[in-house]
Amino acid sequence: MGIGATAGVAAIGGVALTANASSDSGSSSSSSSDSLVFDPDAYTKLTTTVTDTNDKDHTVVYHFWKAITYVAEPVDATYQSLVVSVPVEIDGKAVDASDAPILLANSVGGYMPSSVATATGVGAGGMSGGGAAPSGAPTGGAAPSASASTASNANGNTNATGGATAGNQLLALAAGYVVIEPGARGRTLKNSDGEYYGTAPAAIVDLKAAVRYIRSNKGRIPGDVERIVSAGTSAGGALSSLLGASGDSPAYDKYLKEIGAADASDAIFATGAWCPITDLEHADGAYEWNWGGNDLSTGKLVDQTVSKALQAQFAEYQAGLKLRGLGGFGPLNARNLDTYLVKQYLEPSATTYLAALSDSARATYLKANTFITWSGGKATFTWADFLTHVGARKKDAPAFDAFDLSAGENNEFGAGTTLARHFTAYGAKNDSTGLTTKRVASDIPAKLDLMNPMHHLVGKANPNRSKHWWIRLGTKDSDTSLTVAANLAARLGDLGDDVNHLYYWDEGHGANTDPGDFITWIAQVTNHRGPKNK
Ligand code: DHB
Repeated sequence: MGIGATAGVAAIGGVALTANASSDSGSSSSSSSDSLVFDPDAYTKLTTTVTDTNDKDHTVVYHFWKAITYVAEPVDATYQSLVVSVPVEIDGKAVDASDAPILLANSVGGYMPSSVATATGVGAGGMSGGGAAPSGAPTGGAAPSASASTASNANGNTNATGGATAGNQLLALAAGYVVIEPGARGRTLKNSDGEYYGTAPAAIVDLKAAVRYIRSNKGRIPGDVERIVSAGTSAGGALSSLLGASGDSPAYDKYLKEIGAADASDAIFATGAWCPITDLEHADGAYEWNWGGNDLSTGKLVDQTVSKALQAQFAEYQAGLKLRGLGGFGPLNARNLDTYLVKQYLEPSATTYLAALSDSARATYLKANTFITWSGGKATFTWADFLTHVGARKKDAPAFDAFDLSAGENNEFGAGTTLARHFTAYGAKNDSTGLTTKRVASDIPAKLDLMNPMHHLVGKANPNRSKHWWIRLGTKDSDTSLTVAANLAARLGDLGDDVNHLYYWDEGHGANTDPGDFITWIAQVTNHRGPKNK
């Protein structure tokens, strides 16, 4: 399948793009594994300016490989392709990225399709991918308050508004890392027979295939294939954490074989996940536990019978997880999770936020938010007051497995010619669409296993999981329960993994306010000593 022919020489948005070599990487229609050999010479040489988190500009010359199909038998190469960006000169100094960490930044949002097929430079994928904007998909609302980068990228896009991962990508490039951006199939894709071919588990299978492609090209593709660091936000954060948790799980083999994935490991070294919308089959209960008492934006409470039933399910689920809180908190359950969230995440988050303000700005904030006690340089408050502070919940009940099948996640669990299905017993039982069996379809449990990182961590944990985790969430994000990320982090902590987990105070869905710290963290966990000069 031919993909995205791009102009060789162009000046877009004031950024000079210089053609160095023309590539023909996307033209192969071969289904042999030869098509999975990375061509080191098929790049275009580009220049971009990256503004770092201290507002300092850096000129980065990099090699860019436009869309390369990463599977031998693509279902749809528009999505099953990746782009590669490799820095060669930073601020006038030649750099060698051949052993640098690889940032694998997906741009999945809303479990929608994401494409880099027409990308002409790094940072192509915003929240909705480099391709068509998903209609009806959550927008992600990613307005980074600490500007990751205000530079125009090679697409002429301004990255400050382009979403969390765009900040990560440009900063990674300016730090001398290799940046690889994969597309992936998503839930709305439908073929001419009316079959949905991007629903679960397509997106995770594709991301795994991308990892296998990279690893199978060790020595050809620049960067250290043993130091792949995944990043993604929201549904992309869910998939990133799933990629990290499920490394080399044989459960995906059959799907990977079907699309002709390269024969290599799909384990990754480290995982970055922003506001992961995951643990989907337990997310309705978690949501009601967290936001059940908060009004909708209409000013109305959701059906309290439904909310209470879901809360009871969550209490059972939480008890069954047998998690211990980070920081020596002890066993977590539905009765003490509120205290845990306040002590482990919310108060420290507010404290960091308030400490960084000027005295007068802090005084103004505290005057407007009297529920916070500020004493000895620390913020304290109650869970109940915090919930009031957040205000309207974003979603009705159930938040994910809607009785009328209207949630995006219902579509994510669609199959064949069926657009949307239930994936919880409670959702199926209360179905309002005429589902006569009132039960989930028989293939659903296996699909849930393939989509939920917790399945790879709880009980016997996957030994090939990533051992380094960067997890972030805004405190005002009611796209899912605040417990989802906390439970993931707690389980990883129990397993002895290296977990760096913070909540961003007063930030909403999609926030990434410390991208510079993420880039530094990558260097730390991968033992990378900075750009190697030539
Ligand atoms: C996303 C947001 C949601 O609220 C959701 O249910 C799924 C995905 C997103 O922004 O990716």
